[in-house]
Amino acid sequence: MRLSTAIVGLIFGLEAAALRAGTRSIPDIEREIDATRKRALTKRADEIDLAALYPEHNISVPIDFFHNETRYEPHSNGTFNLRYWFDDTYYEPGGPVFVLLGGETDGAGRLPFLQKGIVHQVAKATGGLGVILEHRYYGKSFPTEDLTTKNLRFLSTEQSLAEIDYFARNVKFEGLPDLTAPKTPWVVYGGSYAGAQAAFTRVQYPETFWGAISSSGVTVAIYDYWQYFEPARLFGPPDCIKNTQILIDVVDNILLNDNNTAQVQPLKQVFGLPNITDNRDFANQLTGVYGLQSTNWDPEENSASFFNYCNNITAAPKASNLRPTVADVVSAAGYVNSTSTQDIILNAIAWLNQTSVSRWRRSNQTQDQYYTQLNATALQQYTSLKDYGATSWSYQVCTEWGYIQTGSTPADIAPLISRTLDLEYLTFFCRAQFNITTPPDVWQVNKYGNYSIDYPRLAHLGGNADPWRPATPLWYPESRNSSTEHPWLLISHGVHHWEENGVFENETTPLIPPPQVVYAQQFLKNFVEEWVDEWNAEKGEHLELR
Ligand SMILES: *[C@@H]1O[C@H](CO)[C@@H](O)[C@H](O)[C@H]1NC(C)=O
Ligand SMILES: *[C@@H]1O[C@H](CO)[C@@H](O)[C@H](O)[C@H]1NC(C)=O
Ligand SMILES: *[C@@H]1O[C@H](CO)[C@@H](O)[C@H](O)[C@H]1NC(C)=O
Ligand SMILES: *[C@@H]1O[C@H](CO)[C@@H](O)[C@H](O)[C@H]1NC(C)=O
Ligand SMILES: *[C@@H]1O[C@H](CO)[C@@H](O)[C@H](O)[C@H]1NC(C)=O
Ligand SMILES: *[C@@H]1O[C@H](CO)[C@@H](O)[C@H](O)[C@H]1NC(C)=O
Ligand SMILES: *[C@@H]1O[C@H](CO)[C@@H](O)[C@H](O)[C@H]1NC(C)=O
Ligand SMILES: *[C@@H]1O[C@H](CO)[C@@H](O)[C@H](O)[C@H]1NC(C)=O
Ligand SMILES: *[C@@H]1O[C@H](CO)[C@@H](O)[C@H](O)[C@H]1NC(C)=O
Ligand SMILES: *[C@@H]1O[C@H](CO)[C@@H](O)[C@H](O)[C@H]1NC(C)=O
Ligand SMILES: *[C@@H]1O[C@H](CO)[C@@H](O)[C@H](O)[C@H]1NC(C)=O
Ligand SMILES: *[C@@H]1O[C@H](CO)[C@@H](O)[C@H](O)[C@H]1NC(C)=O
Repeated sequence: MRLSTAIVGLIFGLEAAALRAGTRSIPDIEREIDATRKRALTKRADEIDLAALYPEHNISVPIDFFHNETRYEPHSNGTFNLRYWFDDTYYEPGGPVFVLLGGETDGAGRLPFLQKGIVHQVAKATGGLGVILEHRYYGKSFPTEDLTTKNLRFLSTEQSLAEIDYFARNVKFEGLPDLTAPKTPWVVYGGSYAGAQAAFTRVQYPETFWGAISSSGVTVAIYDYWQYFEPARLFGPPDCIKNTQILIDVVDNILLNDNNTAQVQPLKQVFGLPNITDNRDFANQLTGVYGLQSTNWDPEENSASFFNYCNNITAAPKASNLRPTVADVVSAAGYVNSTSTQDIILNAIAWLNQTSVSRWRRSNQTQDQYYTQLNATALQQYTSLKDYGATSWSYQVCTEWGYIQTGSTPADIAPLISRTLDLEYLTFFCRAQFNITTPPDVWQVNKYGNYSIDYPRLAHLGGNADPWRPATPLWYPESRNSSTEHPWLLISHGVHHWEENGVFENETTPLIPPPQVVYAQQFLKNFVEEWVDEWNAEKGEHLELR
């Protein structure tokens, strides 16, 4: 199945915020930290509006919920300020609290979901209170004064879940009556990593949360996550996928075949990257398929990088003075006299030249400085709070979650990124930045239910073409019966938590949102309404009697 052309046609614009894909060069990390800093100083016009519309609030929460666990030693009796936002525009007495988890990002970035996305839509449909909750060690919610490795110890899945539970049981919304759980029905929602958290809170704290919605929720932690590329391979544009597999095969037949060492330098040279010393740092640039995750149906949320890449790699052949060199490389790789294979390599060269190589040219750095993932000195500088973008999620990856997106596919699956991009290379940062030399303890995540995680009033939704789907219950089995108690929906032609964002009612068009997203949002509102009815039937009457 292909992504529909209607959706492909909509794809252009900005980068969507999502669970991080791929490895970032030091300059990429710097750019990100810089952007975060600048956003904090000079906000975009609509962000000022959002901040004024939804003032931020804090709740004081314990730093350490597990004084019985040695991993958190030395323990802390302290508290810190956890940030949240709410909107009571649609709230009516008796309505639910619908809380969206900020996950591994600045919670302020989730405010559009309160304004026009899924939180707005559910609050409006149910007379509910919409809430956004930030996550410890992200945005402005820090339990420690810096992010040195020792001070990251309270950043774990179980601490984050305990914090959500504590919030629901203790928060006092300014100007509103007591709406704490479990006296009020709370429904928790999250997308991606936060989607896994939403599922886990329902299983771990069922008395607190009446219902939970796990959107593209990655409930399965996987260390070597080569499957990240499976949805692209299975649902991406077939010609783009086929050409990518050939490109990677050529590159790997040069880099990994000892008979071809003489072709390694010509290969790097023809891609404009002759001075990258480590072959893996070179191969790490041929990763255009990472962009799939950031495609979105809303032009304002979408990143075009995947379709730009695909258009480039499938372009018509052009005359090039690089062809003789490319022909040698391609022949050495075993594609003797194949002009169609040469065309693919030439297309890849032209694409890389417009993207990564052109960014490097503007940087004034050597290629090794710019491209290497293996610079311990650079990684070790990210220990202050403002650097959380380079630190907090990285630490979670190394300690519990894994999700190292390698090219290590089984022999019968041609990979979409180089096989040189393996665990050893891609976990360098765990060793260099945190001195973590053992694999992540994925049990800390998978103990909540893995692919089989299930609970009454726990919903699973996600796109069939989402790179994260292989880490969600939506992968095995491919379909489940859906019911109000166990809602289950695969969004066709959808990618990463596509029902989370929305547009204003007055700005919809026949294709925005696309029909399957309209359906998914309606489906979600329907079962939340039914859950609230169930609560009223079970508890509401009981309350009236008192
Ligand atoms: C929340 O806490 C932060 C950090 O302690 C503080 O700067 C901010 O003023 C607080 N905000 C509110 C609304 O209390
Ligand atoms: C610590 O307490 C939690 C519940 O509060 C329990 O699940 C966990 O097993 C305990 N750990 C140890 C090491 O006793
Ligand atoms: C935390 O409080 C308990 C009980 O008051 C006390 O025994 C313990 O020493 C305190 N721990 C720390 C780290 O301050
Ligand atoms: C390398 O070349 C030798 C001699 O031609 C051949 O026997 C061997 O199979 C080649 N190795 C690979 C991995 O292609
Ligand atoms: C590669 O390094 C050499 C030697 O330092 C230098 O002359 C050349 O300009 C560099 N090429 C690129 C593309 O950086
Ligand atoms: C090729 O990629 C570049 C860089 O992403 C993009 O600007 C360009 O539009 C793409 N070409 C096509 C035909 O899509
Ligand atoms: C490749 O093509 C060239 C030029 O057409 C020809 O001379 C050569 O024999 C071909 N090589 C093979 C192995 O087919
Ligand atoms: C790469 O881009 C530069 C600058 O736009 C251009 O001058 C050069 O011809 C391009 N090289 C290739 C191989 O496309
Ligand atoms: C690169 O060097 C030029 C000239 O020295 C300077 O104007 C420019 O700001 C530098 N660019 C970066 C990204 O440092
Ligand atoms: C490593 O990073 C440091 C700090 O950013 C920088 O000064 C140094 O040049 C880098 N070394 C290499 C080989 O890239
Ligand atoms: C790294 O951890 C090991 C034990 O796992 C310890 O012996 C070593 O001192 C640590 N190194 C640094 C730089 O913290
Ligand atoms: C749609 O409604 C929103 C919120 O009420 C408003 O900010 C926006 O300007 C409106 N858009 C159009 C195109 O009228």
